[in-house]
Amino acid sequence: MTQRLVLIGFRGAGKSTLAAELASRLTMEMISTDVEIERRTGTRIADFVVQNGWEEFRRIEGEVIAALPRERVIIDCGGGVIEHPDNMRRLRENALIVWVDADVEDIITRLTGDNNAHRPLLSASSGVSMAEDTRSNYARRKPLYEQWCGVYVNTSQNSLEEASKHIIETFTTLSH
Ligand code: S3P
Repeated sequence: MTQRLVLIGFRGAGKSTLAAELASRLTMEMISTDVEIERRTGTRIADFVVQNGWEEFRRIEGEVIAALPRERVIIDCGGGVIEHPDNMRRLRENALIVWVDADVEDIITRLTGDNNAHRPLLSASSGVSMAEDTRSNYARRKPLYEQWCGVYVNTSQNSLEEASKHIIETFTTLSH
């Protein structure tokens, strides 16, 4: 029986907002892998990546994912969890995987807003703009999100109400 809701998707697509809405509607606990990482390291992700690099970040992200509860819970994943298949095999256990997508230009608009300045660039090459970094990494990752997607919502085309209703309908069917 499916008991977990796992939200994947590119940074800025709206995972956290949707995860909170679902947690409220379903009266379920919500766990953010990013929050767990910052709790474990005692450091903001952007600072941790600058100090330790992406490889060490992904290692800790994998530890957090391995330690997540397998019972009734909503998991708000960082945008890069699809980079390692082992992560996704663990996340898929007892879960419906939700791909929270958005049009890439909307993602760029959201990420270039002031309240997203804390997100580090994904590309190691210096001088890349957030827009270029987003377009190239979104294109590279899209097939991976598609591969693991159990149910799809697009926050550029669906309201929060429409997206959460669609997810709950699918989850309710699978969790009974
Ligand atoms: C990342 C996305 C971030 C965070 C880290 C890496 C990525 O999470 O895990 O900056 O690789 O796309 P959000 O998707 O919640 O921003």
